[in-house]
Amino acid sequence: MNRFDKVINRKNTNSVKWDFSKNIFGEDEVLPMWVADMDFQAPDEIIDVLHSRIDHGIFGYTMSGTSMEKAIQEWVKNRHSWDINPKIITYSPGIVTAISLAIEAFTSEQDKVVVQSPVYYPFFEIAKKHNREVLYNHLHLSNDFRYDINFTDLEEKLSDPQTKLFILCNPHNPSGRVWSEEELTKIGNLCVKHNVLILSDDIHSDLLLFNSKYTPIASINEKLANQTITFIAPSKTFNLAGLQASVALITNDSLKRKYNEVKQRFGLMMINTLGQEAMEAAYTYGEKWLNELIEYLEGNVIIVEEYIKTYLSNIKVMRPESTYLIWLDARALNKTDDELKDLLLKKGKLALEPGSKFGENGAGFLRMNIACSKTTIKDGLGRLVTALKEV
Ligand SMILES: Cc1ncc(COP(=O)(O)O)c(C=O)c1O
Repeated sequence: MNRFDKVINRKNTNSVKWDFSKNIFGEDEVLPMWVADMDFQAPDEIIDVLHSRIDHGIFGYTMSGTSMEKAIQEWVKNRHSWDINPKIITYSPGIVTAISLAIEAFTSEQDKVVVQSPVYYPFFEIAKKHNREVLYNHLHLSNDFRYDINFTDLEEKLSDPQTKLFILCNPHNPSGRVWSEEELTKIGNLCVKHNVLILSDDIHSDLLLFNSKYTPIASINEKLANQTITFIAPSKTFNLAGLQASVALITNDSLKRKYNEVKQRFGLMMINTLGQEAMEAAYTYGEKWLNELIEYLEGNVIIVEEYIKTYLSNIKVMRPESTYLIWLDARALNKTDDELKDLLLKKGKLALEPGSKFGENGAGFLRMNIACSKTTIKDGLGRLVTALKEV
């Protein structure tokens, strides 16, 4: 049996996904295929390292040293052909926290921040909570049903003298699009031209499907390296999100100093001991497990595509080039997001993310998390059909 076929009961683990449906959706007993964590156990090597750390029984303050730096450096080099100097590494709890710290460090109230919607909603929600104005560079849906970038609009927004930050999602959540080197170079050159700092959230970059090619924007050339802060983490890749440990890669010394000053101001210089142990184990031993995961996820994508084509032909599936989230276009059903959500929850007993959460141009779309066993995928697809077939 494939290890990812195992169905593990996650209820009563304080799981946001499995134990809080009532609080979040107002419905109990729905199948949760929304928030981005996986229903798979982390690799045994990580669990073993955590076990032995726990067995030691002393959980005093910890710091990361050269073995962690080496693990990160080799991971980035082997998986993404990016040769980094370990001195550019700095740690943060989660990436959402890290982005919030960067907004605090590099912008002032009323400055503007550019995002490419539809996009992972904390990008704009957090910027707004800091009282920064958000400018939306709406992604464009091409004829072959992929997102691409409206560069004229992007330049207009970057050239606003109040624009200080551009938050890039590479690969892109919710669509799974992996931006090409050519697209990234164009984005980067515009940011350099208008002196806008790039925050590149690359949390999904290890989960590359169907042989897609990912390029870290900061790896393209020195100019872009100096203009960018790149965020990576083992949390999506190895299902460690609850351990809250991530990495910011900052080549530019003065940016790094400023970022670390803000971290210090908020007392965030250390990451949690277990998160740190898990991160080093993930980057050291995780490769084989990850390759198997990717193969399993590709299989799940194909199941979703075929099932929807057969039973819900008025819904379009955007094939993800990365990660385990599938963006479904349900606009042909002519339902509002609230109506869709209601049908899914009440009729289908299924919880998906409504597209409008990712920005107004996400309306009519749904995001489905397929990081679960094939049994669960088929259950979810059955519920989707029950909810939407007569619409
Ligand atoms: C693009 C992106 N960034 C960040 C996160 C969350 O990161 P963290 O849990 O480290 O804050 C997610 C989670 O789905 C995500 O999709």
